[in-house]
Amino acid sequence: MFPRVRRPGPKSSREVAGLLAARCRALRDALRTAVAAPTSRLRTLADEWSPAACGGEAEFAEALAQTIAYGLWTDRLEHPEARSEVAGACARLGATPGPLLRALRAAADHRAEIGAALGELEATVAAIEADSLAGLREGEGAYFYEEFLAAYDERLRREAGAYYTPAEVVHAQIVAVRELLARELGAPLGFAAPEVVVTDPACGTGVYPLAIVADALRCVRASGGDGAGCASRLAENLVAHEVLAGPFAAAHARVTRALRAAGARLPDAGVRVMLRDTLARPDGREVEAGRIRVCMGNPPYDRRELTESDRGGWIRHGDPGRGERALMADFLPDAAVGKHAKNLYNAYVYFWRWALWWSCEQAGPGLVCLITPSSYLRGPGFAAMRRHLRAVLDALWIIDLGGDALGPRRSANVFNKIRTPVCIAVGLRREGGDRSRPAEVFYTRLGDGLSREQKLRALGGLQSLQELAWSRAPDGWEAPFVPGASGDYGLWPRLVDLFPWQHAGAQWKRTWPIAETPELLERRWRALLRAEDRAAAFRGTEAWTIARPGIDLFDGSPLPALASLGADAPTPRVERIAWRSLDRRFCLADGRLGDRLRPALWRAQGPAQVYLTTLLSSGLSRGPAVMACAEVPDLHHFRGSFGDKGVIPLWRDRGATQANVTRGVLDILRDMFSRTVTAQELFAYVYGCLGHPGYVEALREELAEPGPRVPLTRDEELFSRCAAVGAELLGLHTFRARLRDGSARCVTPVGAMPEKFSYADEVLTVGDGRFAPVSPAVWGYEVSGLKIVPSWLSGRMLQPRGRTSSPLDALRPSAWSEALTQELLELLWVVERSLALHRVQADIFGQIVAGELVSGSELPAPAEEERAEPRT
Ligand SMILES: C[S@@+](CC[C@H](N)C(=O)[O-])C[C@H]1O[C@@H](n2cnc3c(N)ncnc32)[C@H](O)[C@@H]1O
Repeated sequence: MFPRVRRPGPKSSREVAGLLAARCRALRDALRTAVAAPTSRLRTLADEWSPAACGGEAEFAEALAQTIAYGLWTDRLEHPEARSEVAGACARLGATPGPLLRALRAAADHRAEIGAALGELEATVAAIEADSLAGLREGEGAYFYEEFLAAYDERLRREAGAYYTPAEVVHAQIVAVRELLARELGAPLGFAAPEVVVTDPACGTGVYPLAIVADALRCVRASGGDGAGCASRLAENLVAHEVLAGPFAAAHARVTRALRAAGARLPDAGVRVMLRDTLARPDGREVEAGRIRVCMGNPPYDRRELTESDRGGWIRHGDPGRGERALMADFLPDAAVGKHAKNLYNAYVYFWRWALWWSCEQAGPGLVCLITPSSYLRGPGFAAMRRHLRAVLDALWIIDLGGDALGPRRSANVFNKIRTPVCIAVGLRREGGDRSRPAEVFYTRLGDGLSREQKLRALGGLQSLQELAWSRAPDGWEAPFVPGASGDYGLWPRLVDLFPWQHAGAQWKRTWPIAETPELLERRWRALLRAEDRAAAFRGTEAWTIARPGIDLFDGSPLPALASLGADAPTPRVERIAWRSLDRRFCLADGRLGDRLRPALWRAQGPAQVYLTTLLSSGLSRGPAVMACAEVPDLHHFRGSFGDKGVIPLWRDRGATQANVTRGVLDILRDMFSRTVTAQELFAYVYGCLGHPGYVEALREELAEPGPRVPLTRDEELFSRCAAVGAELLGLHTFRARLRDGSARCVTPVGAMPEKFSYADEVLTVGDGRFAPVSPAVWGYEVSGLKIVPSWLSGRMLQPRGRTSSPLDALRPSAWSEALTQELLELLWVVERSLALHRVQADIFGQIVAGELVSGSELPAPAEEERAEPRT
C-alpha cells in the first residue's frame, strides 16, 4: 500500500501526471485482483461491460482504472472547492450521463472491493495544489491527458499514437473546412449547416469535436440562428471515435456538457462519441443521402512492422469472408517501388485511407482535413496513394508545416514531442466532378526558419485559406504534392539512374582501426594482440567477434580468426580511407576488424577510381549536393550520418575498364553532341552541376524528396564548361591534384599535441599554433550540416570528440607532426579554391537549367545487373 500523501502536494503537471499514473496503476491492479475472486460483484460488472469494450477482464480493469482516474481529476479541476472522492464526483456529474459517470458510479458502488487503492487515488487528486490546478484547467486539461498516459504506460501511449493537437492547429483546420464548406459546397453555415455530417476518427479527449461545436454555435448565433437547435443537430451529426477508454470517456463527457450547455436535446443513446477502433469493419450505420461528409482530425502515427499483420484491421485486410476487399490496396505501390512499401504500413496512412473512403468515396460531396506526417507528399513509396487522392478528389490544399528534428534539414515542429515533419491537408470532392482529370493540388509551406511559437501563431491567426501564398504542384497522377522551383525537376534523370551501382560505405562499428597516422594504427594493433582481454580491446558486436574468421578484402582469401593470432602477427595492410568529406584518415584494411567493410568497394578500388557520396534517403541541406573522394569511403563520409547507400563509384572494377554508367547513356550524349563523351567526363559534368551550394539553394523544395536529379543540358558548350570545372573540383576533393599554395599560412607552428582549437578574426588557433588568414567562409564551409574544418580538427585533438569504442582508442599520437600541418594547410587551400569554383559552377548551373534539358524518359533505364554490385 502507498503511504498517505502528505501536503504539499504535486505542483508541476509532470509531477501530477506521475503521481496520478502510479495511483491509477495501483487501482488497475486492485481491480484485476478483485475481478479474479469468484465472489466478486465487480466481476459481474466486468462480464456485463467487457463485450462492449471489446476485451476481457484485463481490458476491463485497465479501462475502468483510467476512466476513474480521469473522472476524479476533471472533477477536481472543475470543483476545486469540493472534496475529491467518487461519490461526490458522481453527484456533481449527475447531469452528464455517459461512460465517465458510469465508471465513477461503479467505483462508488464497489468501494468495498477496491477501497484502499481508490482511497489513495482520491487522496492524491485532493492534494493537487490550487496553483497547479489553474494551469491544468479545461483546454489545457486535454493535453494533460497526454502527459498522464506517458507516465501511466508510455508503450500504450506510443502504440495508440496519443499526441494531442495544439489549439492553433485545430483552429487552422476548422477555418479551412468552414471556408470550403461555404465557398465550394454551398454550406455558408459551415459546421452548423444541417446537411453537414462530421467525423473525427481519432478524437482523444475531444479537442476537435469541441472546437467544431464552438465554431458551429458561433456561426449560427452570428447569423441570428437558434443555438439550441444547432446543438441538437450536432448531437446527431457529430461523430467521434476513440480506442482508449480514458480519453474516450473524457471526450464523451466534454462533448455532452458542451452541447447541453448550448441547450441541446440529446438522443436517447447520448452523444455520438464512441469507444471504437476506426480501422475495424464499419458498423453499418448509414449516413443519409444528400449530406456533405467531413472527416477531420489528427490521427495516430507510428510505423508498424510489415510482419504485424494484425494492425490496420479492416482497412488493411478487408473481410475476405464477406467478400470485402482491403481498401489499403489502392495505396499500395507497384512492384518496382515495392522496397518503399514499408513506409505505407503506418497508422497515419491507414487513417488517410479510411478518411478518404468515408468522406469522399460515397455518394455526394465530401471534405477531408487531416494533420499527419508529410512523408506522402514526396516519398516514392507513396506514388499510388497520391494517384488515388488525385483520382478521388477535385482539389487538395497542402499546408506544409515542416518540423524535421532528425534529418539534416531541421526545422521546428508544431508538436512538442513529434520529430518527423507534418502537414495539414484539405481535400475537396465536389458532386459530379470530372474524374478523368487529376485533382488540382495547391501547396504552401510555413518557413523553415520559424520557431514552434511562430508557426503556431501563424496558424492561430489564420482567418482564410486565401491569406496563404499557394503554388500549384505538378499535375502528373503520381507526382509529388510539392511544386518544383523549375516545374520540370521531376523530369530530370535521377543521379542513381545515370550511375546505376550505388553501395553503402565501409562500416567498422568500432573506431580504433581508424586513425590519423599509420604509426598509431601499428601501435593499436600491437596493443590489441598483447591485451590481457583481447575480446574487450577488440570491442566485438553481436555480428562480429574475435572468434570469427574473416576474408581478405582484396582477394577474398580466408583469414584466421583474430583470437587465434600470436602476439607478433604482422600488422594488416594500412590504407587511406575517405572518413568524412575532405577528411582522409588511415585504416587497418582487414576484413576481421570491421562489421561491414564492403568487400565489393575494396575490390573495385584502384588508382583511377573516384566515388561520389551524397544522401539518397534523406533530404540534403546547405552545401554541395555531392562530394568526391578517391579512397574507399566510410558509411557516413558525406556528412557524418545518414550514409545509407550513398556511395557512387565511377568504375565497377579496379582496372577502370567498366564504367558505372547506364548502358546507352554515353551513346545518346555522343549523338547529341556529335563527339565522344567519356564516363569520366559525364562524372565530372555531374560533379560540376551538383557539387556546389547553388544547386541545393535553387532546389530546396524539390530536394526534400531524397535522391538528387541531374539537369542534363543539350548544349555541348555548356556541357563541356561544366565538365571542365567539375574535373578541376574532382581533382581538388580527391586530393589527386595537390595544391601547393593558397592564402592560409601557418604563422605559429603547432608545438605540443593540441587539446583544443578556436577561430576568431580570420585566425585559426590550433593548440599553441596559429593559421591565418582563414576567411569566415572557409571556416564555415559545410556539407549538409558537417562543418568541414572544425570536423577535421576535432578528430585530431589529443582527445578527439565523438564515440570511443575500446581502450585502444585511448592510444593517441604523442606529438603534432609537420605532415599534419601540411595536411591542414592543404585542406584550407582546397576549401578556398572550392569556394572560388562554386561561384563559377553556380553561374553555369543557372544557364543549364534555363536552357533545354534531356528528360529522364529519353534515357535508357538501368538493367538489373547494372544495379547489382560487380561480381568478382
Ligand atoms: C494523435 S492523437 C489525437 C487525439 C485528438 N484528436 C487530438 O487532436 O488531441 C490520436 C488518437 O487516436 C487514438 N487512436 C489510435 N488508434 C485508434 C483507432 N484504431 N481507432 C480510434 N482511435 C484510435 C489514440 O488513442 C489517440 O487518442
